[in-house]
Amino acid sequence: MRSLAAGFVFAFSPAFAGVVLAADKAGPEAFNNHCRTCHSRKEGDNRLGPTLHGIVGRKAGSASGFSYSEAVKSSGVTWDEASLDKFLTNPNGFLPNNNMKPFSGIADAETRTQIIDFLKTNPD
Ligand code: HEC
Repeated sequence: MRSLAAGFVFAFSPAFAGVVLAADKAGPEAFNNHCRTCHSRKEGDNRLGPTLHGIVGRKAGSASGFSYSEAVKSSGVTWDEASLDKFLTNPNGFLPNNNMKPFSGIADAETRTQIIDFLKTNPD
């Protein structure tokens, strides 16, 4: 009986570890697929788009050294989960005439949540 129980634990734990790992990787993968062409998460590292370091809680248009559109600069938005979710769903619907192009938005809510959760963490 004991060895049967041990067998169960042994058989199921790798599967469980796989699920945990998949959840950890979903955010970074989604960010790499959708954002990384234009954005870095490193502080001060502006590319085609401004650095996304500390973006959750940051005022829109405030990465120093980046030349923003008037639409973002004068939006009065402070990025939080709700405003990021709207912007990433439909950038032009949320801030018309912004320069985040070509990027037409992410329709899948789960993918958006994974990316926003990932953006709450910052690399060293
Ligand atoms: C094609 C390049 C490109 C892609 C892809 C892209 N962005 Fe951008 N992003 C930009 C540019 C350019 C701006 C500046 C827009 C402006 O000034 O109007 C910007 C601005 C932003 C801002 C506002 C930053 C601030 O400091 O106010 C956020 C937030 C943002 N992007 C998040 C994302 C996320 C998250 C993704 C992936 C889901 C993404 N972007 C994909 C180019 C891109």
